[in-house]
Amino acid sequence: MTAELFEDMAPEKGAQTVMAPGAMLLHGLARAVDAALLRGLEDVIASATLRHLTTPGGYTMSVAMSNCGPLGWVSDRSGYRYEALDPLSVRPWPVIPPCWMDLAVEAAVQAGYQRFQPDACLVNMYEPGAKLSLHQDKDEKDFSAPIVSVSLGLPATFLFGTGSRSDKPQRHRLVHGDVVVWGGPARLAYHGVAPLADGEHPLLGRRRINLTFRRAG
Ligand code: SIN
Ligand code: FE2
Repeated sequence: MTAELFEDMAPEKGAQTVMAPGAMLLHGLARAVDAALLRGLEDVIASATLRHLTTPGGYTMSVAMSNCGPLGWVSDRSGYRYEALDPLSVRPWPVIPPCWMDLAVEAAVQAGYQRFQPDACLVNMYEPGAKLSLHQDKDEKDFSAPIVSVSLGLPATFLFGTGSRSDKPQRHRLVHGDVVVWGGPARLAYHGVAPLADGEHPLLGRRRINLTFRRAG
């Protein structure tokens, strides 16, 4: 009875879950700065609008994406790659807001990665039903830097596997303010997001935002 009652309780802010060697979930790390992060989001998506990219196979992604930083991740019929210019506006991507950068660097340090210098931040926007299939982040030049991923808004089920696609992924619930860092032996782990359940978040409504920081170039 007690176990059932407490099963749904989120780990405390400040708690850390080791997901695998090199991979850590930092519970609630971004919550204290959520208002500043969301102001940065307004600026970023005002200059680089969210859009549904096409995969090389011709599918339209259910997650809407944008970028900030010197490099931005894009996908179209010719493949996945990083680009210095937003293909929609043909202008450089907006700068990474300073409070985003501070959080990403701090999260990396807490997970054991010193001197993380991201040059790309992918902004993912999920509406109910949107999902991201299992994939590896492998379009970056250098895999020595970790990936730092910040979740805001509606909760999601994050799938986190190993370097082998056939291994069954772990499932982790990510709530507003959670940060996941993976690098080192976990850098090429397959990961994805299960279809987003509907809900209403006090700050973001029926949306989940994920900010993924990388060293791409
Ligand atoms: C990603 O893999 O780029 C996004 C992961 C997430 O939305 O949590
Ligand atoms: Fe990814």
